[in-house]
Amino acid sequence: MTLFAALRLPREILFGKGQRHALPIVAAKLGSRALICTDERLAGTAVFAEMLASLKAASIEVFVHDRVQPDVPRDTVAICVEESRAFAPDMVIGIGGGSCLDMAKCAALLLSHGGQLQDYYGEFKVPGPTLPLIAVPTTAGTGSEVTPVAVISDPDRTLKVGISSPHLIAAAAICDPDLTMTCPPGLTAIAGADAMTHAIEAFTAAHKNGGAELAQKHVFIGKSALTDHFALLAIKLLGRSLEKACSDGADEDARADVMMGALAAGCAFGTAGTAAAHAIQYPAGALTHTAHGLGVATLMPYVMNFNRSFSLHDMAEIARALGLTTGGSTDELALAAIHEIARLFAAIGITTTLEQLGLAEDKLDWTAEQAIGIDRLIKNNPRPLDLASMKQLVRAAYDGDLAAAAL
Ligand SMILES: NC(=O)c1ccc[n+]([C@@H]2O[C@H](COP(=O)([O-])OP(=O)(O)OC[C@H]3O[C@@H](n4cnc5c(N)ncnc54)[C@H](O)[C@@H]3O)[C@@H](O)[C@H]2O)c1
Ligand SMILES: [Fe+2]
Repeated sequence: MTLFAALRLPREILFGKGQRHALPIVAAKLGSRALICTDERLAGTAVFAEMLASLKAASIEVFVHDRVQPDVPRDTVAICVEESRAFAPDMVIGIGGGSCLDMAKCAALLLSHGGQLQDYYGEFKVPGPTLPLIAVPTTAGTGSEVTPVAVISDPDRTLKVGISSPHLIAAAAICDPDLTMTCPPGLTAIAGADAMTHAIEAFTAAHKNGGAELAQKHVFIGKSALTDHFALLAIKLLGRSLEKACSDGADEDARADVMMGALAAGCAFGTAGTAAAHAIQYPAGALTHTAHGLGVATLMPYVMNFNRSFSLHDMAEIARALGLTTGGSTDELALAAIHEIARLFAAIGITTTLEQLGLAEDKLDWTAEQAIGIDRLIKNNPRPLDLASMKQLVRAAYDGDLAAAAL
C-alpha cells in the first residue's frame, strides 16, 4: 500500500505551564473584540479574572458569556449568539472544559453564517471560515481544542449530535496544565479516560485507501502514519500518568502528561476519527445520562477484544507504548494491552460493565441498533460490524464478559 496521510490542526498550539499568559498576545493577532464562552464555575475564579484583565490591558474588548452548560444544550447556543451579536465580536475565545470549547465553536459558526445549529449537523455543512477561535481547555480530555467537531445535545433528538468541519478547528489552542489542577479526581479520571479512548480508537481505526477525494469528502478518514504518531504519544503519556493525576491531583508532572496526552489524542482522532466504543456510547449515554468519557471508557476493553484479531500488531504496539515490554509474542502483547487498559480504568474508578453504567437489560437491542446506525464511526472500526455482532458486543459489555466480546 502506498503511503497516504492527512492531518488538520490549529495554526498555533501552545502547551506548557504558564502558557495561558500568552492569551492576550495571541488574541491581539486575531482581532480586538472577543466573545468569551465559559461557565459559572470558571467565571468566578481569580484565574479567570486575571485572564480578563490581561486581555483588557492589551486593548481587547470582551463580552463574557458565562452560562455554558455541560453537553451544550442546543438552545443555549442560540441564546449566547443573540446576546453577543450586538457586541459584534471579531473572535471567539472558549475557556473551560469541552463543553465551553464546543459552545465557542458553535457560537463562532452561527455568528459567521447565521441560521440554526440544525442546519450544520453532520459533515462538511459549514460553508466557509468562521470567526477565528482560541481554545483554552481547563480539562484534560476531549481534545476539542484541536478537533474539527463540536458535540451538542438537541432536545428533538435522543442521541447527541456533531457538527464536523475543518472550519471549526480553532486558530490557536493554548494548553496550560495549571488550569487543570482544580479538576477533582472523578473529572480527571473521566476526561483522561475519554482521551485514552480517543488515542486507542484512532490508533486502531480502519486504514483507508486514500484517493484524492477521501479527505475532501470526509472529516474523519481513518488512521495514517501522522495520526499514529500522535496516538502513540498520547497512549504513552496517559498510560504513565493518568492514574497518578487521579490519586494526587497536585502532581504537576502528572497533570502535564495527562493534558499533553489529551491534546495529542485530539490531534490523532481529529483526523483519524473514533469507532465502535464511541458509537455504542451515544445511545448508552442517552439512556443512562452518564458522562461521555465514562461510557466510552467502560466500553473500550470490550471493543479492543472484539477488534483484537484484526488489529493484533497495533495492539501489540499499544502494549509497548504502555510500557509492557516483557517480551511475549504479538498475540500475548495485544492481550496484555487490553488487560492493562481494563486495569487502569478500573483503578481510576471507571465502571466496568454497561450494567454498572445503569443501562437497562431490555434496552440492549435498541442500543445495538442505534450504534450500528452511526455509519461514520462503524465504518471506521477495524473489524467490520453487523447488527448481530454489535448485539453480541453490547451484551458482552453488559455482562462483563471480556472473552465473549472477541467471539
Ligand atoms: N469537540 C470534541 O472534539 C469533543 C470530543 C469529546 C467530547 N466532547 C464533548 O465535550 C463535553 C465534555 O467535556 P469535558 O469532559 O471537558 O467536561 P465539561 O466541559 O462538560 O465540564 C464538566 C464539568 O467540569 C467542570 N470543570 C471544567 N474544568 C474544571 C476545572 N479545571 N476544575 C474543576 N472543574 C472543572 C465544569 O465546570 C463542568 O461542571 C461533552 O459534551 C462531550 O460530548 C467534545
Ligand atoms: Fe470521546
